[in-house]
Amino acid sequence: MHQLLNEHFPGAVMRCEKANDHALLSTQNGVMLRVEAITDHVLRFRYTAKGYFEKDFSYALDGKHRSGFNAFEQGETASHYLLKTPVLEARISKEDAKISLFDAAGNLLNEDEKGFHWEENPQQGDNIVKMSKRSLTGEHYYGLGDKPSNLNLRDRRFQNWGTDQYGFAKDTDPLYRNIPFYYGLHKQGCYGIFFDNSFRTFFDFASERKNVTSFWAEGGEMNYYFIAGSSLLNIARRYARLTGVPELPPLWTLGYHQCKWSYASAEELRGIAERFRALRIPCDALYLDIDYMDGFRCFTWHPENFPDPKALVGELESQGFKTVAIIDPGIKVDMDYAVCREGFENGYFCTYADGPLYKGQVWPGECYFPDFTRPAVRNWWAEQFKGLIGEVGLAGIWNDMNEPAIMEVPTKTFPLEIRHDYDGHPCSHRKAHNVYGMQMSRASFAGVKKYAYPNRPFLITRSSYAGGQRYSSVWTGDNVATWEHLWVANVQCQRLSISGFSLVGTDIGGFTEHPSMELYIRWLQLGVFHPLMRTHSSGDHGEQEPWSFGEEGIELARKAIELRYRLLPYLYTTFYQYVEEGTPFLRPLVFVDQEDRNTWFRQDEFMAGDSLLVCPILEPNRLGRRLYLPRGLWYDYHNQTLMEGGKEHYLEIPLERIPIFVRAGAILPHYPVQQYVGEKNLEYLDLHVYRGEIPQDSYLYEDQGDGYGYEEGAYAHKAFKVLPQKGKYRITQHRSGKWQSPYRHYRLHLHGFESAPERLEINGEPAPPEAMVNSGEDFYLQVPENFHQISLRWPVA
Ligand code: GLC
Repeated sequence: MHQLLNEHFPGAVMRCEKANDHALLSTQNGVMLRVEAITDHVLRFRYTAKGYFEKDFSYALDGKHRSGFNAFEQGETASHYLLKTPVLEARISKEDAKISLFDAAGNLLNEDEKGFHWEENPQQGDNIVKMSKRSLTGEHYYGLGDKPSNLNLRDRRFQNWGTDQYGFAKDTDPLYRNIPFYYGLHKQGCYGIFFDNSFRTFFDFASERKNVTSFWAEGGEMNYYFIAGSSLLNIARRYARLTGVPELPPLWTLGYHQCKWSYASAEELRGIAERFRALRIPCDALYLDIDYMDGFRCFTWHPENFPDPKALVGELESQGFKTVAIIDPGIKVDMDYAVCREGFENGYFCTYADGPLYKGQVWPGECYFPDFTRPAVRNWWAEQFKGLIGEVGLAGIWNDMNEPAIMEVPTKTFPLEIRHDYDGHPCSHRKAHNVYGMQMSRASFAGVKKYAYPNRPFLITRSSYAGGQRYSSVWTGDNVATWEHLWVANVQCQRLSISGFSLVGTDIGGFTEHPSMELYIRWLQLGVFHPLMRTHSSGDHGEQEPWSFGEEGIELARKAIELRYRLLPYLYTTFYQYVEEGTPFLRPLVFVDQEDRNTWFRQDEFMAGDSLLVCPILEPNRLGRRLYLPRGLWYDYHNQTLMEGGKEHYLEIPLERIPIFVRAGAILPHYPVQQYVGEKNLEYLDLHVYRGEIPQDSYLYEDQGDGYGYEEGAYAHKAFKVLPQKGKYRITQHRSGKWQSPYRHYRLHLHGFESAPERLEINGEPAPPEAMVNSGEDFYLQVPENFHQISLRWPVA
């Protein structure tokens, strides 16, 4: 940040008006600061130097958070105003309105350096609003969405301004998404800061000045939420409570997806489907990129190449494939095209300040652009899905180019003066740019949900803003088939996950250029653990289906995708935890054990859910690597070796595997391999029991995998607890929900036990001998699905 002469600062605080849940402070030079207790753990700070606050409105908040509910305890010393919740205390200096924040034990969490200040911007009539905080000794930073840079953000500066970045590179900034939320971590504790401002925002993490972290916006208000928590993971959950989570996606969403730009005819798509089934490579979703349309007109079909879309989609459905199609925001300027005419006649398209319609170039040539920040436009847009979803039967929609991206202009987007409604708060593109993609996906979500009902909707979008996770999954955009991009993919998905967006994935294998077999396989193996597992490529660099890399490639790809299908019940449960509690699906190691300093800089290893630790191979010709296991005991998933955490290990890894570790004590559910979700009737469920030394909980969430029955209680939530004792391993199960799993038995596979148990008791009774099954190599315990308690017993020496 430059030390500009027209920077202004709040003067001394003259007044503090206190209400139950907020306080309003006014300074001598007219600055107002409103501090609000959102919850005990979340405080909101709002500043204005204009003499008034803007109408309070945010696209990010999910509307469920309530204010006026939580109370402060308010106090005062000679020098400070004190605002306290049971866990957090804000001290506001009477001299200059600077703030320090403490936890209940009095540890300093965060402190203003210059604090709030601003720069006047007479051209816009708006201020550039700034905040600078002291960077505490040894403080590190995480979060901020899709940044393709080191997970630990310290020493870097970033900006949020959604941008179409074809073939971006490591450290390219900004990218497609705008998520102004970060975490701070230091030895006294941790916190999150969400700067809810949709203008272009900047974040400097002790980069310009070593002891200062600052953030600022080119307009709007200094309006941020300070989130406290005992761990980064708890802060992630609180951020999710503030900005929302999606509905549970249909289970097939967690299957494998195949995409290309483009499968350009019905015949080509049928061929792809047949090939998957013939080669027995599981797949649940096939995608149609822009060429399915008639001259790139959204909501139309190419008459020759897709003569009967409904029949095509129905045929694919009968083979177990869902079809997803792309919809861009640009509406081709063509008054003979109904969508354009309707949008024009109703005034739904974006205009310049003086009235003319804005026209920009995208795939169809000149386009008009719906103003998705207007409710009437969103409703109209949602209705457009009646044909694609309701009649043709597509299962999902892919929104692209919604930064919004404009071709052949240096800024790659709309002129800044373009007008938007912003839900009744009219403004220019400066303010609406960063939410445009989010509001497009919101409108699409409403339409897909309405017409897919009683099925669940599936959406994927390229651009979004904080809170956009409520409407759509995201993918990371136009990446490149290089090893560096595999590293980027790993970091981006972890970072998105801790920034509120758990339903994320990358273009596996890279969008531009062509991967080697080895790169493709390593990427696919990482993709097994990304919530969205989709291969996509620009198509003009060679084939990128799992069979495009020779016989060995087919074997290896099948193996990776089969692993994904085996892990589905675990992955779905992990997703449920995200939807229920806001717990990120992917967890960087620092989110797993922040007390262990070794995790603060680790970024290759991550956890997917509670029990699995993954460490991808990110370099060519690597048949081994060093990796760090967090404290505790871990099993190598591939060979059951017990390994000690809290240190680095070197592991040999052939191309057919990705290093995966299971937390000792975990119970990991597996499905049989299916070619698509729902292919098989499950007769039993495999539970892999990894011996631990301390009591531990594992969970399993199941429902119909689609539809809304779960909202009426048609789900099964199973909480397993293992209780290791001398000569005995006890497992309890607590079931809730009204849904009956389709199978009646679990098969318990034991890992890490020295021998088979001598005795098995089920619900306190000795089990019949046939419950211990020894079929050649396979040994398992067959127990009823509704058990309350089982005990495995060994003779005590
Ligand atoms: C953009 C998208 C890409 C898509 C292409 C054509 O580049 O990011 O995924 O294939 O447009 O629609």
